[in-house]
Amino acid sequence: MSAVSAIPIRQALNNPAIHPELTPELLARVAAKSEAVLKQLRDAVAEFGAEGAITFANSLGAEDMVVTDLILKHSLPIEIFSLDTGRLPVETYDLMGKVEQHYDTRLKVFFPDAAAVEAYVRNEGINAFYDSVEQRKSCCAIRKIEPLKRALSGKKAWITGLRAAQSPTRTGLPTREFDAGNGLEKLNPLSDWSEAEVWAYIRSKDVPYSALHEQFYPSIGCAPCTRAVAVGEDIRAGRWWWEDPASKECGLHVKKS
Ligand code: ADX
Ligand code: SF4
Repeated sequence: MSAVSAIPIRQALNNPAIHPELTPELLARVAAKSEAVLKQLRDAVAEFGAEGAITFANSLGAEDMVVTDLILKHSLPIEIFSLDTGRLPVETYDLMGKVEQHYDTRLKVFFPDAAAVEAYVRNEGINAFYDSVEQRKSCCAIRKIEPLKRALSGKKAWITGLRAAQSPTRTGLPTREFDAGNGLEKLNPLSDWSEAEVWAYIRSKDVPYSALHEQFYPSIGCAPCTRAVAVGEDIRAGRWWWEDPASKECGLHVKKS
């Protein structure tokens, strides 16, 4: 087999979603929204205190790269962490390395509890998450939720890259809310950003991003639970694609009333 045949055909196509036309109107909107995000982050630092009180959950997705760039370029005293589930795509690890080089920083990575992963895999199977929603949620609980609790422990506020337009489960997402499940404030500064605005920021500031975005992966999670989407398909259609869209949250962002 020739090496050329192994290159996915999608890679050769230009993905329009991540190459928006950088019109003056779009760039002006992005500049104004970036200022608003910076103000929200600076206000949060003033409110919660600078020393390790606020932390940003960075999945290395496009939205999170915008927030990462704003925090690091402006030297905001906000911690940045990533959850390494052990099943991330190789492109995410490549980007972690690029981020460390590009910004001359070290990422704070949280891993799942090794004994819990071992027990789950031995009892249920290496890819048990495909068997049922319950199995999938158990895997997410071990690989994401428990490490998230540790990452948020002792913090006063956390920041996400969530956008309201990403999914029906995120409609009406506020830029700030109390996260009752985790017992701290939650800031979603990109809540009202569009996908085009995210990409206009990335393009105009030369921000590093995942190679998977070029291959029609608008939303990236763990490798076995993420696929590419067709042009025009829903942004999160490639996440847990075998499940009902209404239940497609992993538990990082559940609401408790
Ligand atoms: S998920 O709940 O379906 O996995 P999604 O991938 O859309 O979430 O990401 C939404 C936000 O959750 C991200 O902007 C980021 O703040 C946080 N997040 C998701 N995955 C991770 C991760 N692996 N590490 C750190 N933060 C994450
Ligand atoms: Fe497990 Fe898939 Fe959830 Fe990752 S996204 S923690 S592999 S079920």
